[in-house]
Amino acid sequence: MKAASKTAPAKAADTPEDTRPQVSARDLRREAASAAADAQHTKEIAKQFSLLRTRMLREMRNRGWRRLAVVPITRGAGGTFTSVNLALALARQSQTQVILIDLDLGNPGVADQLGVPGRGLIGATLLKGQPLEQMVSRLTETKNLAVLAPGAPEPGAAELLQDYSFVSELERLTKSHPAELAILDFAPLLGDDTALAALPLADAILLVADGRRTTAAHMQECERLLAGLPPVMGVILNKSED
Ligand SMILES: Nc1ncnc2c1ncn2[C@@H]1O[C@H](COP(=O)(O)OP(=O)(O)O)[C@@H](O)[C@H]1O
Ligand SMILES: [Mg+2]
Repeated sequence: MKAASKTAPAKAADTPEDTRPQVSARDLRREAASAAADAQHTKEIAKQFSLLRTRMLREMRNRGWRRLAVVPITRGAGGTFTSVNLALALARQSQTQVILIDLDLGNPGVADQLGVPGRGLIGATLLKGQPLEQMVSRLTETKNLAVLAPGAPEPGAAELLQDYSFVSELERLTKSHPAELAILDFAPLLGDDTALAALPLADAILLVADGRRTTAAHMQECERLLAGLPPVMGVILNKSED
């Protein structure tokens, strides 16, 4: 809701033609309190992701890793939320260039959560023989952050992720792009096999668990599925504060 203008022309509030929506001081106070709570929450999230960024950056640099797969264990655990906030936290550091790539091709969410328009489709771009670079945008507000976020679900996402031309194009893009780090936002590990198909592209994996839903059985199943795949750098316990 927009704040009422302090300079609105004086007009008797009880005249019959006055149809402006009325806002009581109590509502204004409630709005102010909720805005403050939101700002506090946003600050807290930024702080937590700054901590994660520092630990992750140190580890990735020490090991010479460049591509981090962020993989939710189940849908809705917060994989995209983590990818977006981690990428923003990395890009806040003036010397760190990062590229965020949406690889949940059947259910892309990066553009929405980042608040940018999605751009193109990977399948169609490859079919035209065009490079994936042309789908990459740079954020005006966050110059260190480049984004590859398709605008809609890709038809045949699972097949596309296993397609040789896609895998080699993505490999080429992440190697040739000037960004020091690539954050790859994945489909959930448990569900179908779309996440597994592209995981060998990553150097390391960051798992995201839903603090309220992920069970020990889920974790065991993840361990089984991830055998022989890139190492798990850590597990984020999301949505667990209450
Ligand atoms: N820690 C969090 N705080 C607030 N909202 C969150 C948090 N984690 C996830 N969400 C929200 O929950 C929803 C599902 O998260 P998302 O990242 O899209 O899940 P996934 O990518 O794992 O399927 C989104 O609307 C997202 O904004
Ligand atoms: Mg997601």
